[in-house]
Amino acid sequence: MKVLNRISFMLAMTLLASMTFMSCTKEGPAGLAGKDGKDGEDGINGQDGTATCIQCHDNSQSLASKTMQWEASYHATGDAFARNTGECAICHTSQGFLGNLDGTFDWEATGAIVNNPNPPNCYTCHAIHDSYTPGDWGLTVSGAVAMRNTAVTFDFGKGSVCASCHQGRTVNPFPTVGGADITISNTRYGVHHGPMANVFTGVGLFNVGTGLSNSLHTTMITDACVTCHLANGYGAESGGHTMWMRNGSGAMNTAGCIACHADVTALNADIVALQTQVAGLLAELKTKLDAIGATNAGSDNSVAGTYAPEVAGAVLNYKAITEDKSLGVHNPTYVVKLLQNTIAALD
Ligand code: HEC
Ligand code: HEC
Ligand code: HEC
Ligand code: HEC
Ligand code: HEC
Ligand code: HEC
Repeated sequence: MKVLNRISFMLAMTLLASMTFMSCTKEGPAGLAGKDGKDGEDGINGQDGTATCIQCHDNSQSLASKTMQWEASYHATGDAFARNTGECAICHTSQGFLGNLDGTFDWEATGAIVNNPNPPNCYTCHAIHDSYTPGDWGLTVSGAVAMRNTAVTFDFGKGSVCASCHQGRTVNPFPTVGGADITISNTRYGVHHGPMANVFTGVGLFNVGTGLSNSLHTTMITDACVTCHLANGYGAESGGHTMWMRNGSGAMNTAGCIACHADVTALNADIVALQTQVAGLLAELKTKLDAIGATNAGSDNSVAGTYAPEVAGAVLNYKAITEDKSLGVHNPTYVVKLLQNTIAALD
């Protein structure tokens, strides 16, 4: 039994030793309390994450009406945004237009292309989601616009964004009065489809003859395109973001005119008179161009050949005033005189 006692004794000693060791690691009593720390400063209240968003995305219905009008515009329904390469892309696609403005789309580079192109839309003309505040309704183009084919720049006010696309393309060679003969090598000779800004300002066309001067429209209508085309219209048929000048019935939207043309009946008669006169002058000019052989009857395409500058210039003016589509309204006095001078120069 001695052995057993010895083992019990050793076990008891080991237990005692470990207990003593454990009690040695116990913390001592707490020290005296320290001095109070300085109070922290109050933080600034955080902004409501959507506070600025709802100034546009609210239920005022303004976004919905603009969107519906835009959906009825040719910007939304036309299919020319398929022209998504090179220079074409900077007027025909939204991304190409914005990329040309900020330099990220180098349209002159070989193979330049805008994939998944969008037509002109909210993001093209407004700085949508730039600052995420209503300031983003600001237009993407403001101030003077450089006009191709000339050294002229012109400030169209709110219409400068329109004039950036709705102006003629560069023509090379460009005819000069009394200058060298012009060789026309393709059927599309001229300033392209949308030369409204040129007609409105009277620059970049073949300004032949004397007595040419702009109508008061050019100087008095300081927001240019926007004053007439974005005036309050008829449902989603004209005006606003449809940008159409006529209702479905064919009636002119005169909302943007009445500040100056108070008598709407007289204005409508003036429009008919002017457009009839301009259509007549265009027909007279076309007959002469067909006789010269610079165009063929029944087609506005130019016929390849080498022509006197007055003939090439007449082709250019004929196409530009036709493609302008306002039949003189954009710049009444200038358009009438230009067509008369162009016809006289062919005699
Ligand atoms: C300047 C007014 C404006 C402000 C401010 C604004 N938005 Fe928009 N937002 C728009 C317009 C315009 C559209 C395009 C509507 C359309 O395509 O019909 C749009 C589209 C959107 C869309 C759909 C996007 C898409 O690609 O389909 C979302 C989501 C959106 N906004 C969220 C926000 C949020 C979140 C904020 C704030 C952080 C905000 N927006 C601030 C005007 C605004
Ligand atoms: C990014 C270039 C671009 C801008 C900016 C632009 N447009 Fe256009 N616009 C076009 C193109 C391209 C078409 C033809 C669309 C098509 O054929 O698919 C067009 C078509 C139109 C049409 C219909 C033309 C027709 O032949 O019936 C009107 C009207 C119009 N635009 C007015 C305006 C006004 C007003 C502004 C300024 C508020 C403006 N556009 C800004 C490129 C532009
Ligand atoms: C300076 C801007 C600009 C450039 C560059 C440009 N276009 Fe256009 N183009 C327009 C505008 C604006 C219209 C719309 C005119 C209208 O409908 O009244 C248009 C109209 C057209 C149309 C007629 C569309 C229709 O529905 O009647 C075709 C086709 C076209 N362009 C092809 C091209 C091609 C191809 C290129 C490149 C080689 C090109 N455009 C370059 C501005 C431009
Ligand atoms: C072709 C260019 C163009 C396009 C595309 C366009 N806008 Fe506009 N928008 C304008 C112009 C120019 C004005 C200024 C009109 C004025 O002051 O009379 C304007 C004004 C507005 C306003 C009033 C802004 C303010 O300061 O109160 C709203 C809202 C608006 N646009 C919404 C839209 C929406 C939504 C879309 C897309 C569905 C759109 N716009 C597409 C050119 C455009
Ligand atoms: C004095 C008012 C006025 C101004 C300013 C004006 N337009 Fe027009 N625009 C008209 C009228 C009127 C028509 C002819 C509509 C018709 O006879 O069917 C027209 C026709 C057009 C068309 C052909 C499509 C359509 O609606 O018939 C386009 C595109 C166009 N204008 C663009 C512009 C651009 C871009 C500017 C600015 C450079 C501009 N307009 C300035 C009144 C104006
Ligand atoms: C800011 C003023 C102003 C606005 C806006 C305006 N016009 Fe004019 N318009 C004039 C003046 C001034 C004349 C006459 C002098 C001239 O043409 O130089 C004129 C001339 C005309 C003419 C030629 C006939 C004439 O009386 O000599 C027509 C047609 C015309 N305007 C149509 C329109 C149409 C259509 C609109 C609206 C879509 C419009 N104008 C908007 C000031 C304006």
